[in-house]
Amino acid sequence: MSHIQQMIVSPAARLQEVSEYYFAKKLRELRERMNKGEDIINLGIGNPDMAPSDDTVKALINSAVEPHHHGYQPYKGIPALRNGFANWYLNTYGVTLDPEQEILPLIGSKEGIMHISMAFLNPGDQVLVPNPGYPTYTSVTRLVEAEPVFYALTEENGWKPDLEALAAQDLSKVKLMWINYPHMPTGTNASLADLEELVAFAQKHQILLCHDNPYSLVLNKEPRSIFSVPGAWEVAIELNSLSKSHNMAGWRIGMVAGAQPYVDTVMRVKSNMDSGMFLPMQEAAAAALNNSYEWHRARNEEYAERKVIACQLLDTLGCSYATDQAGMFVWASTPDGTDGFAFTDAVLDETLVFLTPGGIFGSEGNNYVRISLCTPKHRLQEALERIRERQLTSV
Ligand SMILES: Cc1ncc(COP(=O)(O)O)c(C=O)c1O
Repeated sequence: MSHIQQMIVSPAARLQEVSEYYFAKKLRELRERMNKGEDIINLGIGNPDMAPSDDTVKALINSAVEPHHHGYQPYKGIPALRNGFANWYLNTYGVTLDPEQEILPLIGSKEGIMHISMAFLNPGDQVLVPNPGYPTYTSVTRLVEAEPVFYALTEENGWKPDLEALAAQDLSKVKLMWINYPHMPTGTNASLADLEELVAFAQKHQILLCHDNPYSLVLNKEPRSIFSVPGAWEVAIELNSLSKSHNMAGWRIGMVAGAQPYVDTVMRVKSNMDSGMFLPMQEAAAAALNNSYEWHRARNEEYAERKVIACQLLDTLGCSYATDQAGMFVWASTPDGTDGFAFTDAVLDETLVFLTPGGIFGSEGNNYVRISLCTPKHRLQEALERIRERQLTSV
C-alpha cells in the first residue's frame, strides 16, 4: 500500500538509466512466494550462511558492553583495525601496506565503488567495466554521470580481457578500469602475469586500475593482491572485504588500499558521507583478521563439499562448467546455449530452486547460470533431488 499516487518532484536525471538492483527485486518476489508457503531453495545470492569465528563475536560482545564505546569514531578507522588489515595483507599476499597512509576501512567494499567513482570521475569520463561483471560497477558509473564502456570476457578468451583489442580502441576518455580476480561471476583467477599485463596496460594508457578483491580467500589456492605487481602503486588501488572471506557480509566491513594520494582522495569523499564505524565492530573485525589458518581451511572444506553437490546439480541440468573455479559460486553454461533467464525461470517454476541467470552480469553471461555455495549441504542435496525428479519427468 502506498499513501500517495505520485511524488511531487521527479527523480534526478542520473537515475534514468539506473534501475533497482536485480537481486533486491528478485528476492522480494521470492520472499512473497515463500510467504505464501512455497518452499523455494535460493541458490542465487552470495550471502555466507556460516558464522564468523568465535573470537570475532566475543570481541564484539566484550566491546559493546563498555559504556564509552558508543560514540563517533575516527573517519579513517581505529589503528587496531588498520594494523589488522596491514598484517593480514602481509600474511595473505606478502604485500606491505602502511597502516597510517595506505589503508582506509570501509563500510563494506560496495560503498568503496561509489567513493572511488565520486573521487575520480567527472561527468562524461569513460570507465572500462567487465562484461560479465558485478553490476554495481555499471550502476555507480552511471550514478556519477560517467559512461561505462564494457570489455567482453568470453569463455574462448578464458574470461580474460583482450588487452590488444582494447588498446586498439579510442581510450582517450577512459579514466578508470574495474577488474576483479578471482572474478565474479565466472570464478576465473588471474595469474601474476595477467595482473602484470593489466598494470602495464594501465601505465601505458594512464588509467586508474581498480582491483576488487573480495573472493581471494574462498576456494582459491593462490590469493593475490594487485600490489604483488611491481609498479602497481602508481596506477592501481584495491578493494577488499571481510564479507566473504570471514563470513561477515552483514557486518559491512571492507577496505581500500593504495598509495597515499589515492587513499586521501577517497577519504575526501568518504569523510563527507559517514561518520566512522561502530567501535565494537572495528575491534571485532581486527580480531577476525587474526583468524587462524585452520579456521579458513575449515570454511573452505565446507564450501568444497557443497561444490561437489552443486556440480552434480549442474550435471543433472545438462550445464557445463570449468572445474578450477575460485570463489563461492559455480558458473556454468546452459544446455545447448539456452537463454539463462528463460532457463532459470523454468527451473524455478518446475522445482522451486532458484539459480541466478548469468545475463544479470552482462550480455556475455546470457547463456550461463551461476549457482551459489552459500546454502547448507542438506538443502543443496534437496535441490539436487528435485532437479533429478524434474529431469525424469521431462524425459
Ligand atoms: C565482485 C564483488 N565486489 C564487491 C562486492 C561487495 O561486497 P561487500 O559486502 O564488501 O560490500 C560483491 C558482493 O557480492 C562482489 O561480488
